[in-house]
Amino acid sequence: MDFFAWPRKILFRSQEYFSLEKSDEESSQSESFLESQPKPAQPRNYVLLVSVIMNVCLVVVVSLFAIHNIPSFGENASSKDVIRMSSYSPLFGKVPISASLTAINGSFMDEGFPPDPFRALPSKFADDAWHATAEPTWITITDAEARSLGKNPADLVRAPEEWGHGSNKYIAMMDLNHQLHCVNQLRKAAFREEYPVAHGDRWDFQKEHWMHCVHILYQNVMCTGSTEIITYNWRETQRFPVPDFDTTKMCKNTRTLLDFQDREMVHDLNAKRDKMIRPTDAAIFPLPSHLKAFLDAHD
Ligand SMILES: *[C@@H]1O[C@H](CO)[C@@H](O)[C@H](O)[C@H]1NC(C)=O
Ligand SMILES: *[C@@H]1O[C@H](CO)[C@@H](O)[C@H](O)[C@H]1NC(C)=O
Repeated sequence: MDFFAWPRKILFRSQEYFSLEKSDEESSQSESFLESQPKPAQPRNYVLLVSVIMNVCLVVVVSLFAIHNIPSFGENASSKDVIRMSSYSPLFGKVPISASLTAINGSFMDEGFPPDPFRALPSKFADDAWHATAEPTWITITDAEARSLGKNPADLVRAPEEWGHGSNKYIAMMDLNHQLHCVNQLRKAAFREEYPVAHGDRWDFQKEHWMHCVHILYQNVMCTGSTEIITYNWRETQRFPVPDFDTTKMCKNTRTLLDFQDREMVHDLNAKRDKMIRPTDAAIFPLPSHLKAFLDAHD
């Protein structure tokens, strides 16, 4: 399957065009630079020759730099490319971050082998995979990392030293983990027979939880702003064009991020959280008013 052949060909052409255009621009700039050179009384040809050579070198260097900075489609993104497109993260420098062209599987149904647990209908196969990926998980961050995130460490929740994560550490969660948790919550919401939710108060709370997840995922989708395109085919027995949801995306090395989470996670989260006591000098923030009213009304 020659997935990338078509886009590569087209885009290399536009890249060539761009680089030509760029060097034309640079050379006209350097021409005017040449004109403004002081004209010495000494052997003019020699000075002119040196100046031309230097300017040619300058143009070559500047063009190479410009070409280097043109996004080239069909190549993997370096950590520099990924970091440039990201807000600050303490993960940078701890985890090798990169991105590579990845085939997105758009199959409408499970077509057999290889089975993908993240596509599977409710089953132990699916639950095990989702549980390992989507359980809320804490990691810890340092004072400096908190500040780089724009947070005042004094406002944050300190991880007790006996957890073994060091002193002056604050509990944190990877946003990736929260998003996966939200996908899993909505997956379960779609199969309420298989994943029953308690009725009454808990049910009202679940509805808010699901809408929070919809809202989080909606904002992430809108932020990512997918630029990939879905095409259509005529398929046997079908009256209407059938969409082909397979796309090629530039995907971060998410597996590496989740491995980092596995290495750095606070183990036995629930047991540890149960034992946590709010320090007397902790900064205390108000609850948002609707949430407060809901929780007050439903003990
Ligand atoms: C891009 O990364 C993928 C996955 O890491 C790798 O298989 C592929 O060979 C890389 N492609 C290039 C052009 O480096
Ligand atoms: C896509 O995923 C489905 C499972 O949802 C699987 O049956 C199918 O073989 C996969 N297709 C490819 C090309 O990997």
